[in-house]
Amino acid sequence: MKINSIKLNNYRNYKNSTIDFTDGVNFIVGKNAQGKTNLLESIYLSSVGKSPKNCREKQIIMFNESQARIELDFSTLAGKKNIKIYLDKANKKSIKVNNLNILKLTEFVGILSIVYFSPDELKLIKEVPEDRRNFLDISISQFDRTYLYNLLKYNKILKQRNSILKSDNSDQTKIDELKLFTPQLIECAEKIIEKRLNFIEKLKKYAINLHKFITDSEILDISYSYAKDDKLTIKEQLSQEFEKITTKEIELGYTCIGPHRDDIIFKINDKDCKYFSSQGQQRTVALVVKLSLMEVIKQEIGEYPILLLDDVLSELDQTRQDKLIELVSKYQTLISCTKIPNTNIKYNTIKIENGTKI
Ligand SMILES: Nc1ncnc2c1ncn2[C@@H]1O[C@H](COP(=O)(O)OP(=O)(O)OP(=O)(O)O)[C@@H](O)[C@H]1O
Ligand SMILES: [Mg+2]
Repeated sequence: MKINSIKLNNYRNYKNSTIDFTDGVNFIVGKNAQGKTNLLESIYLSSVGKSPKNCREKQIIMFNESQARIELDFSTLAGKKNIKIYLDKANKKSIKVNNLNILKLTEFVGILSIVYFSPDELKLIKEVPEDRRNFLDISISQFDRTYLYNLLKYNKILKQRNSILKSDNSDQTKIDELKLFTPQLIECAEKIIEKRLNFIEKLKKYAINLHKFITDSEILDISYSYAKDDKLTIKEQLSQEFEKITTKEIELGYTCIGPHRDDIIFKINDKDCKYFSSQGQQRTVALVVKLSLMEVIKQEIGEYPILLLDDVLSELDQTRQDKLIELVSKYQTLISCTKIPNTNIKYNTIKIENGTKI
């Protein structure tokens, strides 16, 4: 895939700017607080439907304005496409793809395929399991619509099941009501877990080799952590666990097992990265995971997504910077930085100052 151009109106500090991109590496260069991250954020939003920052959508609209607009032209193997996103202060968002209205998130995610990496992505390794589940959900949804559909369905049933567990009804009434919802939850859960397991296997295949290439010696391992018993199917295992745990769930008032509680475990040389790796090692693993995701998505959709690297170079030593730039030059990559690094590869420069390309 390739983004040809983006037009931003009243988007954060961009009043009215059009920016063109080329194949390969595009350095987005500028001093601090000029709009480099804002530009990458607008592309992320055009792919995932929300900002990577934990912010309200109306915060994206330029101060003292009431509407913001993104227009993005890109090319895929299937031809040229156009995405338009309108945001207004009433917190309403509308999306058009090739001038047709998009009404559901499930219709939108994955039309523009991207992989995003910023220093914040370290949370993939060191923060709470929810961050790793988000990574799984956003990644898989990019190439598998049914996954997103099942996930939304699962979350709906989970909410209903939790409200039964939390209600003031008698334990027996709760047990009777759960008989309807637990099998539905398990059915969705099985589909989600199977796809996550499959995804991790594919990701791992690329990540182990890439990690060895970048670090020279370390051995990476990635696994999906869930209620597992090799002798049982996922469905049988979950049914058994739910039977054992129902009394406890009624006592606690929420659903204690299922994909909304699972996690990913990253290990270097057999030691859990979350607890034993240095900051630099964690950063490298997070980066390797994102680069491997590029390969998995390519395997699934037949072409590379667009890679967005925000502020990544300044954190890597020269050798790792060189290896990274060489690796990413084979796809369209947008790299934000305050200074263009020394490199032999061909690249395009986009200078940003105060929300404008100069
Ligand atoms: N809604 C908004 N309206 C106008 N300006 C905004 C809005 N939201 C954020 N900004 C401004 O955008 C500016 C640029 O932010 P951005 O994060 O893109 O900078 P950057 O170029 O990535 O800088 P750095 O090198 O420090 O990462 C900030 O000064 C911020 O105040
Ligand atoms: Mg920035």
